[in-house]
Amino acid sequence: MDTILILDFGSQYTQLIGRRIRELGVYAEILPGDARLGSRALDGVRGVVLSGSPRSAYESGAPRPDAALYDSGLPVLGICYGIQAMTLDAGGEVERLPEREYGRKTVRLAAADPLLSGLPPSIESWMSHGDSIARPAPGFEVLAVSEGGIPAALRDPGRRLWGLQFHPEVSHCEGGMRILENFVVGICGAARQWSMEAYLDQVAERLRSAVGNGEALLLISGGVDSTVAGALLLRILSRERVHLLYIDTGLMRKDESLEVMDNLRSLGARHLHMVEAEAEFLGALSGVEDPEEKRRRIGDLFISIQEREVARLGIADAFLVQGTLYTDLIESGKGVGSKAQVIKSHHNVRGPLVEAKRAAGRILEPLDRLYKDEVRALGRLLGLPETIVRRHPFPGPGLAVRILGEVDKERCDLLREADAVFIEELRLRGLYDRIWQAFCVLLPLRSVGVAGDERKYGSVLALRAVVSEDGMTADVFPFEPKDLLGISSAITNRVPEIGRVVYDTSSKPPATIEWE
Ligand code: XMP
Repeated sequence: MDTILILDFGSQYTQLIGRRIRELGVYAEILPGDARLGSRALDGVRGVVLSGSPRSAYESGAPRPDAALYDSGLPVLGICYGIQAMTLDAGGEVERLPEREYGRKTVRLAAADPLLSGLPPSIESWMSHGDSIARPAPGFEVLAVSEGGIPAALRDPGRRLWGLQFHPEVSHCEGGMRILENFVVGICGAARQWSMEAYLDQVAERLRSAVGNGEALLLISGGVDSTVAGALLLRILSRERVHLLYIDTGLMRKDESLEVMDNLRSLGARHLHMVEAEAEFLGALSGVEDPEEKRRRIGDLFISIQEREVARLGIADAFLVQGTLYTDLIESGKGVGSKAQVIKSHHNVRGPLVEAKRAAGRILEPLDRLYKDEVRALGRLLGLPETIVRRHPFPGPGLAVRILGEVDKERCDLLREADAVFIEELRLRGLYDRIWQAFCVLLPLRSVGVAGDERKYGSVLALRAVVSEDGMTADVFPFEPKDLLGISSAITNRVPEIGRVVYDTSSKPPATIEWE
């Protein structure tokens, strides 16, 4: 398949470049910036993008692309650090700016070029850099300049090299998608062969040849990824060979377990094993207040229940299927190697069973080339309803990290009720799909209120609603006051134990999305 290779130098935007190219219908792969570019790595590659980086290209030890790139004859587009590294490699100069340039900046086009075709004479670009090109390398001409007078777009026509000082992948960059399309489709000539239908064919072949006459076991978490992986297995393999194991921790949202199970059943699941483990999980969490300790105990119990059930069901030889996504691979360092700025740990199921399966080569990760929005598209293609496909992300430790302090059944039930009202109100008001993640947090506080003529102490609930691309950064959802007030009164009316509702107005960073 025609591929655009992205060499990653550690930019926070690398994943975004990949997603944008896939949105154009072209397959994009990410490799570490300094990966060796032998013929295997370049198989099917029609062009290469060099990402940005938190490093300076002139620092000693700063990563550089393999020199074979420049001999490959492939078109190359360097973005930010990418063009600076190319400039140094080709004999130009890069220097530190007196002040970092950040945010929207006007860029004026200075010469016609296929990369910038179809753009107006000036665009509002998105900049994020502390270094800039002081002297373009021999052979390069400047195609556009920023309002500060620095080269914003360059090209070496002889060697088919292009560079941008700004970030076309960021949604605030005017004409950004047009520029990427000009490069990927116009200059590289990559065919738009990437679609979920094509992926389904590819993955079907991969799964069928791996599993053969064996069996597959998938641990269902209730989230979108594992549900889509389940639907995929049921579509591709004989249903008799597919075992779906769901451990109900009692820490799920209201009716979530039933809904997921019903959907998998309606997709034809024959071996749907549900383990009721609420009492075990609440027992393990008793007296625990520290969030990391909560996570550890939940994780450990998950592993032991999983081992126990696999032994009980007699499916110890099955292939273990995981709902790992492309971003999980990159975050856990497999994609970008030592250059990864590991921001969050990888949330997949771990433990001795997983280790043993991995050692035996019996782990399958059928979603491991997909981004989250592509998993949703695949879910739709497989016939999952929108309520599942568009469901907001939910953390593995579930409500346990949304109850600050000790977790018990009463608090879980209270939070579940309040959260269900919040989500229902968001749906009724047409806001659910505009929000990336929304939930309630139960605070370890009591606050005074009035009920009739009496003073009454009730629980305090925080509402969280954020917009985000991928959960790495997030902005607060700007509710209209009437919606926020309406939601608050719906909660206090329908869940009388909640005496006060507050709205969390912190973005990430500095806050995280979850409170624990
Ligand atoms: P934070 O709170 O780190 O969350 O800003 C980013 C995204 O990750 C989810 N999250 C978790 N998911 N296990 C998970 O599977 C966890 O321990 C965990 N902690 C946070 C969070 O819900 C958000 O979508």
